[in-house]
Amino acid sequence: MTTPAQDILVHQEQGVSTITFNRVDKKNSITTSMYTQLADALEAAIDDAAVRVVVIQGDVAIFSAGNDIKDFLERPPLTRDAPVFRFLRVLATFPKPLLASVCGPAVGIGTTLLFHCDLVYAGDNAAFSMPFVNLGVCPEAGSSLLAPQMLGYHRAAEALLLGEPFMAEAALEVGLVNRVVPPTECNMLTQMQAKKLSSKSLVSLMETKRLLKKTNQAELLARIDEEADSFGRMLGEPAAKEAFTAFMEKRAPDFSQF
Ligand code: COA
Repeated sequence: MTTPAQDILVHQEQGVSTITFNRVDKKNSITTSMYTQLADALEAAIDDAAVRVVVIQGDVAIFSAGNDIKDFLERPPLTRDAPVFRFLRVLATFPKPLLASVCGPAVGIGTTLLFHCDLVYAGDNAAFSMPFVNLGVCPEAGSSLLAPQMLGYHRAAEALLLGEPFMAEAALEVGLVNRVVPPTECNMLTQMQAKKLSSKSLVSLMETKRLLKKTNQAELLARIDEEADSFGRMLGEPAAKEAFTAFMEKRAPDFSQF
């Protein structure tokens, strides 16, 4: 079964629902409509008893370039009910096992969504980055809470303040990914692990996940909202406007006044 949506594909097989970013010409950057489709796909997976595990994957050369910057300018997510924040809340509370297969660049939300996944497999071409400061905005997806918890404060500060990419091996070392394989093998490995999970007791998997995530849950949801408020406000401020204009004009931003 494949949905008619083009930019997001959803395919279901043997208890595994696979969500694929399918906008390779724009480096799988994510538009408002794609956030709605992603949230819908996750909600459908929660409600569908036949779905036991969900996989998120991209292309062998690009996972996602993060938010679509043009769409950001046209439809900025100014309030907590914007589709991106709806997606993030479903992602952060998703009760069934969630896996990701990451090859190529994973920028912004392309990296921060991984903090919410249970298992992450990466191609050796994966490059993770959270360049929010370089765009005049701030972290999202609860990454200001989860990045220091997962990477340690100094590595999180380096990743979030400098916004420079780190490669698959570094991600493996800090525990952001479970295994690094050649890019052409990544989706297959992830599917294999997903199918292993789908043969286990869903009741037991879900209770285990609930307990694993319990300590952080309330604080995480509050942080996602706080980040959303800051992010929405900052989008309207001069630094972000300069950064987005610079991106569209294919030049480096000038932050000397901000
Ligand atoms: N939003 C909108 N369009 C994007 C995009 C984004 N985040 N990322 C890439 N694109 C578009 C480019 O504008 C270009 O479109 P064009 O062919 O119409 O000119 C196309 O995708 C190809 O991008 P390009 O930069 O030429 O590809 P690349 O292989 O050289 O680099 C990336 C890939 C992902 C490293 C680079 O595109 C990038 O850094 N993108 C911006 C990432 C970003 O800052 N995201 C926001 C995070 S909050």
